[in-house]
Amino acid sequence: MESFDQIRAIRWQDDALELLDQRRLPVEQIWLRLEGAADTARAITAMVVRGAPAIGITAAYGVVLAARHRYRQDSPRWREMLTGDLRQLAAARPTAVNLAWALERMQGVLDTLPEGQDPQQRLLAEAQSIHAEDVAANRRMGELGARLLDTPGAVLTHCNTGSLATGGYGTALGVIRAGVARGVIEQVYADETRPWLQGARLTAWELVQDQIPVTLLADAAAAHLLRQGRVRWVIVGADRIAANGDTANKIGTYALAVAARHHGVRLMVVAPTSTIDRSLASGAEIPLEQRGQEEVLTLGGQPVAAQGAGAWNPAFDITPAELIDAIVTERGVVERPDTAGLAALFG
Ligand code: MRU
Repeated sequence: MESFDQIRAIRWQDDALELLDQRRLPVEQIWLRLEGAADTARAITAMVVRGAPAIGITAAYGVVLAARHRYRQDSPRWREMLTGDLRQLAAARPTAVNLAWALERMQGVLDTLPEGQDPQQRLLAEAQSIHAEDVAANRRMGELGARLLDTPGAVLTHCNTGSLATGGYGTALGVIRAGVARGVIEQVYADETRPWLQGARLTAWELVQDQIPVTLLADAAAAHLLRQGRVRWVIVGADRIAANGDTANKIGTYALAVAARHHGVRLMVVAPTSTIDRSLASGAEIPLEQRGQEEVLTLGGQPVAAQGAGAWNPAFDITPAELIDAIVTERGVVERPDTAGLAALFG
């Protein structure tokens, strides 16, 4: 692998799916071996693997595992049972549309298979294509996004959008990798991203592994940083983009977008076209995941809040398209995104 790109978190090995357990990073690197659809769905819900493209790729491999358990040459009932497995995988997390997108591709393979044919080989080939296409898309977005970084300066990112959140290389973090390689990024700031700390635990770990210097800040410090004038771009990923460009991403993205616009800092959203949900007219229709209170009330398993307090824990928010300066996809860049601009990507 090239420099600035050493990490992979999803692998198909010895006929099983292996995931780097992201709940344990950066303290320890533990690979979990998954054997079926149910444990794959549980791993997605529990955030062993997270990040929109990574969730889709994992679910695709989950279908291969499910087919291995269900396929019986002498009984057509395996298809019915496999449909139940696909439903279970689809329900694992609600916001990232890449999950449904990847499962639709797997279903497409199943639909074209002759009755009675063992589906495993074809399904594995499709899952591996989804995985490889994602890495290729990320590299292309890296090039396209880095070209927008006209003057050298600092950038700010949120959550984790790197190799851990994708098949490899990353979306927003892919642009950052490419920008550092080209010398147009002088400093990378990363929000710690409460409550799950994807920034502090994952983005910082990834960048340190790849020898890219990173400066962490508490989420609440971001507006103050943007006011200083050194940050040229805020660069983030997306979990689902509606047809008009409204973008669901990690909670806190909307606050960053408002602060960036106020201070004349530009906002770049980097996401493959598999993250665009053209069936939804606007962000108001995107389902936003609510996660458990304990993620806010505790830190590293230790209580940090007054006993008896409740917590509100939306995992994502919506950034309206008018606050976004550019959406970078593998098919091209849409500046000042709107419904027509995004539709042209699919034209
Ligand atoms: O809850 P998570 O960690 O799955 O949320 C991830 C994000 O919000 C990322 O920014 C998004 O999936 C884009 S990742 C390439």
